[in-house]
Amino acid sequence: MSVVTFEHVGYTYSAKTPFEHEALKDLSFTLQEGRVTGLVGHTGCGKSTVAMLLDGLERPTSGRILIDGRDLWEEPKKVREIRRRIGLVFQYPEYQLFEETVEKDIAFGPRNLGKSEDEIRTLVHSAAQFVGVGEDLLKKSPFELSGGERRRAAIAGVLAMDPELLVLDEPAAGLDPRGRADILGGVCAYRREKQNRTVLLISHSMEDMARFADDLIVLKEGELLFHGTTKEVFCRPDLVREAGLALPQITRITNALCDLGIPEGITTTEEAAIEILKRLDS
Ligand SMILES: Nc1ncnc2c1ncn2[C@@H]1O[C@H](COP(=O)(O)OP(=O)(O)OP(=O)(O)O)[C@@H](O)[C@H]1O
Ligand SMILES: [Mg+2]
Repeated sequence: MSVVTFEHVGYTYSAKTPFEHEALKDLSFTLQEGRVTGLVGHTGCGKSTVAMLLDGLERPTSGRILIDGRDLWEEPKKVREIRRRIGLVFQYPEYQLFEETVEKDIAFGPRNLGKSEDEIRTLVHSAAQFVGVGEDLLKKSPFELSGGERRRAAIAGVLAMDPELLVLDEPAAGLDPRGRADILGGVCAYRREKQNRTVLLISHSMEDMARFADDLIVLKEGELLFHGTTKEVFCRPDLVREAGLALPQITRITNALCDLGIPEGITTTEEAAIEILKRLDS
């Protein structure tokens, strides 16, 4: 694992009822193994619906989802088996903690997968480390934690299952810049250490995408608007605007300076500083 392909996927909520809503339309893309792909788009464009379908919680209304070339729903009885290889972090996962201690909570997933006690201990500690959950927090009750700490504990619980495909739906929503960087940086560290892992990161924040995503999928009203590297998307302000999103301030400033020879699509202030200094020196 894990190359994931959406092949002409459509999904309609509450089909054939007055509440019918076509959330995804003819959606095709491939997530490459070992890359962090960002999924962006305006609210209601279908991002969480993609996450739900990837986790096999619902079946596409049309089209197919292929995992390593195999249709996820080819044998409906085996969907559970494939789901074990996929880790989904829902929006606001901190509300799903329920064990006596954080450590037991993080261990819940690997224990369910039938891992040995030794393996569980290693998985829990390594997952906790990725997102900065220290020894002191592991011994506490989840209810003694702050909101940001609870969020990190919940994400560690998914990382501890060592998923081949990790899907995170707005994992940093509502956190301050430091909290966002801790979580997203931790996810990237996980991907770096386990090189063949595939990550789909859903976020409204183009700033976060600039720092953490290799590729971007841009959705608009359930349809694919663009799929390319993050740089390619950042060179297309027209597309970003059409999707109802805004480029980070630094990209807008440097795109406006392209007459001075500064390349388009700069994603971070560090990169902008290097390019500007180059021109000042010459
Ligand atoms: N259970 C449901 N029944 C009917 N329509 C739904 C249901 N869940 C979502 N929808 C609709 O499907 C569309 C896509 O919803 P989805 O939650 O995937 O959007 P999203 O991109 O994740 O939005 P957000 O950025 O606000 O989280 C929206 O128009 C939404 O109103
Ligand atoms: Mg959503």
